[in-house]
Amino acid sequence: MKGYSITTLNEFIIKRQTDFPYAKGELSRLLSHFGIAAKIVNKKINKAGLVDILGASGIINVQGEDQKKLDVFADETFIAAIQASGEVCGIVTEENQEIITFDDNLSRDGKYIFLMDPLDGSSNIDVNVSIGTIFSIYRRVSQRGHSARAEDFLQEGTRMVAAGYIIYGSSTMLVYTTGKGVNGFTLDPSIGEFCLSHPDIRTPEFGSIYSVNEGHYLKFPDGVKKYIKYCQELDPETSRPYTSRYIGSLVADFHRNLLKGGIFIYPSTASSPKGKLRLAYECNPIAFIAEQAGGKASDGFNRILDLKPDSLHQRSPFYVGSRAMVEHLEELMG
Ligand code: AHG
Ligand code: MN
Ligand code: MN
Repeated sequence: MKGYSITTLNEFIIKRQTDFPYAKGELSRLLSHFGIAAKIVNKKINKAGLVDILGASGIINVQGEDQKKLDVFADETFIAAIQASGEVCGIVTEENQEIITFDDNLSRDGKYIFLMDPLDGSSNIDVNVSIGTIFSIYRRVSQRGHSARAEDFLQEGTRMVAAGYIIYGSSTMLVYTTGKGVNGFTLDPSIGEFCLSHPDIRTPEFGSIYSVNEGHYLKFPDGVKKYIKYCQELDPETSRPYTSRYIGSLVADFHRNLLKGGIFIYPSTASSPKGKLRLAYECNPIAFIAEQAGGKASDGFNRILDLKPDSLHQRSPFYVGSRAMVEHLEELMG
C-alpha cells in the first residue's frame, strides 16, 4: 500500500515562511485568516445555490427570510476575517466605493493593505456555474500607527506581496502566490482543509483555447478582431481551429486556461470603452499569478503590473494567459 501524506494550507504557509528570512509571520497569519474565511464563504455559497434552486421550484419555503445577496455576505465575511487578523490597516473591495480603514489600535499598526473582489462572476450563482474570489496584498506606504490612505491602494502591481483566488467549482480551490511560484490547494470537505493538490503550477507557453465574449466583436479594437480571426483559422499542427471557451467568470475562465494553456481576452467595448475589469482587484492579482506561472498579462500595449492606478475602481482592457499567445495578440495590436 502506498503511503498517504497531505500538506494542508496552514502547514504549507508555515513551511514557506522561511522564504522570507526577515518576515515575522504577519503575512502567514493573514493568509491563514483568509483561508478560514474562505471556508465559511464556501459553505454559504454551496447552500445558497441549493436554496435558490429548490426555492425556485417551490419545494423549500425560504420562510420569507431575507436572503442577503451573496456578494454582500462574502464581502462582510472576508472583511471581518481580514480585520481580525490585525495585520491589515485597510481594505478596498468591489462592493465599497471608498476605502475601509480598520481603526482599532492593532490594525492601525498593521503593515499590509488588502484588495478584493469578494465574489467574481456573481451572475452565475443562480445557474450553478463556477464563481470566484480574487485578492491581493501590498505593504502599506503610509506610516504605521495611522489610518490607511489612498496612496497605499494605488501602487503598481509590481509591488504586490501576495495574490490569489478561490474558485468555487466542482470542487473549491485556493490558488495563490507570494512571488515564489504558484500553488493550488483543493478543499477536502471531509476534513474541512485546503490540501496542496497543485504544487508549483506552470502554465503552458502556448495553448489552443481563447476566451472572450464575442457578442461585443463589432466594437473590439482591430488588433483583437485580427487575433480572433487568427484563432478561428485552421491550426496547421492540429488541423483544427482554436477552441472557444467562455464561462463569464474571470476566475473560472482564467483557471482553466492557466492549467490547459490559453488566452483570456476582455478588450474595450462600446459599453465599456476602458474595458470592464478593475485593474486593482481583478486584473492585477490575476496578472501576478499568470506571471508567476510563466504566463503574461497585458492591456494590449503595456504590462499590467507596470500600470499605476489613479483611482480605486479604475478599469483596464485585459489580455492574460499563455505567454506566446498574449505576445501574438500584442503584435497585432501594435
Ligand atoms: P463581477 O461578478 O465581480 O462583477 O465580475 C464579472 C466579470 C468577470 O468575472 C467576467 O469575466 C466578466 O465580468 C464577464 O463579463 P461579460 O458578461 O461582459 O462577458
Ligand atoms: Mn469580478
Ligand atoms: Mn464581484
